[in-house]
Amino acid sequence: MPIDPGLLAQLAERREAAEASGGPARAAKRHEQGLLTARERLDQLFAAHTFQEFGLHAQHQTQKFGMADKFLPTDGVITGVGYVEGRPVAAFSQDFMVAGGSLGKVHAQKICTLMDHAGKAGMPIVGYNDSGGARIQDGVESLSGYGQVFNRNILMSGVVPQIAVISGPCAGGAAYSPALMDFLIMTRRGAHMFICGPEVIRAATGQVTTMEEIGSAEAHARVSGNIHFIAEDDQHATAIVRDLLSYLPSNNMSDPPHMLSDEVTLKEDIELDNIVPGDPKQAFDVKDVIARIADDGRFLEIQAEFAANIVVGFGRIDGVVVGFVANQPMVKAGTLDIDSSDKGARFIRFCNVFNIPIVTLVDVPGFMPGVAQEKGGIIRHGAKMLFAYGATTVPKITVIMRKAYGGAFIAMCSRDVGADLVVAWPTAEIAVMGAEGATNILYREEIEKAENKAERRAELVAEYRAAFASPYMSAGLTFVHDVIEPRRTKACVSLALRTLLSKRDSRPPKKHGNIPL
Ligand code: HXC
Repeated sequence: MPIDPGLLAQLAERREAAEASGGPARAAKRHEQGLLTARERLDQLFAAHTFQEFGLHAQHQTQKFGMADKFLPTDGVITGVGYVEGRPVAAFSQDFMVAGGSLGKVHAQKICTLMDHAGKAGMPIVGYNDSGGARIQDGVESLSGYGQVFNRNILMSGVVPQIAVISGPCAGGAAYSPALMDFLIMTRRGAHMFICGPEVIRAATGQVTTMEEIGSAEAHARVSGNIHFIAEDDQHATAIVRDLLSYLPSNNMSDPPHMLSDEVTLKEDIELDNIVPGDPKQAFDVKDVIARIADDGRFLEIQAEFAANIVVGFGRIDGVVVGFVANQPMVKAGTLDIDSSDKGARFIRFCNVFNIPIVTLVDVPGFMPGVAQEKGGIIRHGAKMLFAYGATTVPKITVIMRKAYGGAFIAMCSRDVGADLVVAWPTAEIAVMGAEGATNILYREEIEKAENKAERRAELVAEYRAAFASPYMSAGLTFVHDVIEPRRTKACVSLALRTLLSKRDSRPPKKHGNIPL
């Protein structure tokens, strides 16, 4: 007997009502503001016809505060699984057109169900955050809902990649779900994120501030370091999500999406020989080096605006996905400071949990000197770099281009914290401290006595550099496996990566190490 047409009509009607979200007028208003709707965001993310929605008919059960008869389509969040470039991805998208995307009990349950599903099936999670926060009518049940979401974020951390897009308001405790994820992308207009807004800050402390200063994408990308990418608009945010996913494995049990070429590049790149300037005080742009090593010069930089004295991001070398970590001589002479240590360490740990080999490019004069750095805990923060590299079991290849001084030499993935291969360019200076500083200490009296102090000093600096800071000194002691012509860098790194893809590195069993935080 054929199915009752009335039942099919009812299904179509219910589906249409749920998909209508807040209705055409609200959708039109968003479009006028240059924003996409929650459903349009998912349409942009997933390949056509691949989205399987979970919970289209979900509905709040709140009876109080006039909610009994209130219809909230999808309960304000669209959740489901679809395909991105041929691989399954789980995503939720909070719907600001329905009760301001506020998070109630059922809304939270939908996100949790999706995350559980993603964890079991081993697929990345993408969350579009656009919400007025805890749904006031659901009271503490919405707080509990947040707690359950946070707990899933934590449980899934290091199991599947988690990417948060901040597409609208994300305030108070709600900001902690994105903060617990791996990468945060925030749109330049329409989005803001803060724990206490300007009014609360003024009431509590008397300090006067603006949303722009504390909660904008610009503020988080440059100052707080809370986010990883600024997107110009919704479309750009999703383009960044796709770009990121193209480098990431679906889960921690899989390899990243390598696209191995049949042969490694053996061709020399003569331009690399000209990158390091003759004058050790002159800067060069380490991104030029990355662009010459990465396939097609493609490099997805992470946190480009924050702590720019270290550069981190993804690329491929003859198809092998790698994480680059590089000192940037153009900014603060490439020193390691509090923020660059935090940024570097977090990236290194991400690469480790998701099986991404790390290529480290070194030109570091040391840790940043200064009262603010000491008072701010550079010891604790700098230790994160050491800890992160030392605890990492993925292949690690280090190229010392120029300076590698003191503790910072060790912290930039030296042999002794577990690099599998360390090569140096002939321009490398590896020493306890810079040649100038060391000469001042070692030869103070001799310089004082000299007739032409400046000349004698310069001679001694050159002698020190040749005798103690040359890469052959370190190569002789085997801290450096080889000294290579810069032009051979890609060939050398690429060969090493291929031989290291099968790397095994087992550690003593423990719950987890206690990284200084
Ligand atoms: C219930 C909410 C809501 C909320 C917004 N709405 N926030 N409903 N609970 N938290 C509803 C509005 O009533 C309105 O409903 C619709 O969403 C759109 O809101 P508007 O105010 O008209 O929009 P707009 O002017 O754009 O302002 C957006 C806003 C503002 C800035 C987000 O709505 C706002 O300040 N909301 C309250 C934010 C808040 O204090 N949340 C709690 C934070 S505490 P109608 O029916 O007109 O469509 C928190 C704790 C989390 O989140 C703790 C985790 C541990």
